[in-house]
Amino acid sequence: MVALGDRNVRTENRLTTQTLDIGDNTTVIRSLDWDRDRFDIEFGLQNGTTYNSYLVRGDKVALIDTSHEKFRDLYLKLLRKEIDAAQIDYLIISHTEPDHSGLVKDVLALAPQAVVVGAKIAISFLEEFVNESVNSKIVKNGDQIDLGQGHVLEFLNAPNLHWPDTIFTYDHKTKILYTCDAFGSHFCTDETFDEDLEALSPDFRFYYECLMGPNARSVLSAMKRMDALAGINTIATGHGPLLRHNVEELTERYRQWSSEKAKAEQTAAVFYLSDYGYSDRLSQAIARGISKTGVAVEMMDLKVADVQEVQELINDVSAFVITTPPAAGPYATPAQAAISTILAAAKSKQIFGVFESYGGNDQPIDPLLSRFKDLGLTEGFGALRIKDIPCETIYQECEESGTDLGQKLTLKENLKKIKAIDGDLEKALGRLSSGLYIITAHKGDLNGAMLASWVTQASFEPLGFTVAVAKDRAIESLMHVGDMFVLNVLEADNYASLMTHFLKRFPPGADRFAGVKTRQAENGSPILADALAYMECKVVSRMECSDHWLVYSEVTVGKVSKPDSLTAVHHRQVGTYY
Ligand code: FEO
Repeated sequence: MVALGDRNVRTENRLTTQTLDIGDNTTVIRSLDWDRDRFDIEFGLQNGTTYNSYLVRGDKVALIDTSHEKFRDLYLKLLRKEIDAAQIDYLIISHTEPDHSGLVKDVLALAPQAVVVGAKIAISFLEEFVNESVNSKIVKNGDQIDLGQGHVLEFLNAPNLHWPDTIFTYDHKTKILYTCDAFGSHFCTDETFDEDLEALSPDFRFYYECLMGPNARSVLSAMKRMDALAGINTIATGHGPLLRHNVEELTERYRQWSSEKAKAEQTAAVFYLSDYGYSDRLSQAIARGISKTGVAVEMMDLKVADVQEVQELINDVSAFVITTPPAAGPYATPAQAAISTILAAAKSKQIFGVFESYGGNDQPIDPLLSRFKDLGLTEGFGALRIKDIPCETIYQECEESGTDLGQKLTLKENLKKIKAIDGDLEKALGRLSSGLYIITAHKGDLNGAMLASWVTQASFEPLGFTVAVAKDRAIESLMHVGDMFVLNVLEADNYASLMTHFLKRFPPGADRFAGVKTRQAENGSPILADALAYMECKVVSRMECSDHWLVYSEVTVGKVSKPDSLTAVHHRQVGTYY
């Protein structure tokens, strides 16, 4: 173990802790997890994460959230250094997911006098989690606890951000708002605050898309409650840097992204079980895939779903996705009741999808599938039969399945729009011509490929180009900042077979390279043997352009295989389609 100054400790397995005073009698205790497992969908950018816990000291003392259990020794040691546990009056639970509540039992063992404060369902989840009843105080929206010395804590309901039990806590003295998952990022650095906005932005956006985007309407509801507060100086997140330098900029991004999603013409419901097997993470991957098609998503936790709410949601949506419920155990009854409601309320014009949770006790998937099919509903994707602990490829398959479902919902509408627009402007735009390329990418266990035509050189030093990638393309997930890929240039008069192959509709998780001659580039991505030229590329930045991402990349290595041949050129009739 290496000491890094008074209040920072780094271990050899890259778990670090850090404390800092962030306001009047207010301290953050950060657990820095530099190598957080990359197999969870929302950690796809692989920059680790942090679990942030807070101490607020008035005449009374409140501890807001704890840490992941992997930090047990480090966190408890630091907590004891900061405060005598006998002085902790309140332990506030922003929500009960174990990355923040993993050490609640340990803290209560040290501070048995502490009153656990949380939403009603958080307290009931927590009692299940620690397997005993706790001395608790249930708080509702607007409730306050006065710690003394001006530290009046006010609670805001923020359900679904990211579990149904979430609350925010606002300290009227310091104007710090504690939001746990909301406004966070999986971005691990020694910097406590958001000084480096440019570095933080890709992770901030990716995290929003995975965790918050599927609950866009809940984000807007929570932000309405935030607007009523008397100013926010700092957003003290549960993950990543605290927001202090860019509070307005980053909260407005949430508002804008969520407003766009909430305006979607169609909505899909995703029903999951928050802590049964991998239901939560798998449902996030499916929801992310659906969101990529511009369809709004509403997530609902079957563990606490009210029958009335389930019925109203089914009445409102064009599609729904449902996890297989457990056959027995504490969640079997509420989950089954919700499923009976869904079956009774479902309409034949709706699209549906079913996925297993790998919870160890899943009901068989086929009877559930048959019941929806018998009602005349259409499958949005083939049932996801999860037979192993989810890995990158399974999450990718879930995401692509969600995209398939979303595309089925939007197909008719999109075709209508394309046909409807055939004016002079669209025809003029169609005169923009371009080359034809195949982008190939490899990341971890994942492979991807895409036929691309909107490619253009963008810089001399370094050599770089841009490519526009539609948001619902599967390969988009492999083209984030720092990712590597290969740009394969197609040859005029010799591109038909490659173009036909990569234009095919691949089922979720399918190997795009089966039957195609490739070799491996230095950056690990496939080079197509029949390409006229290739370039190895690294994504430098991304710009959001409505329904596409404009991806700017540096070119590091490249070669032409047939110096006398020309690039295939693509001419179009109208600018409203490729
Ligand atoms: Fe960071 Fe939903 O836990």
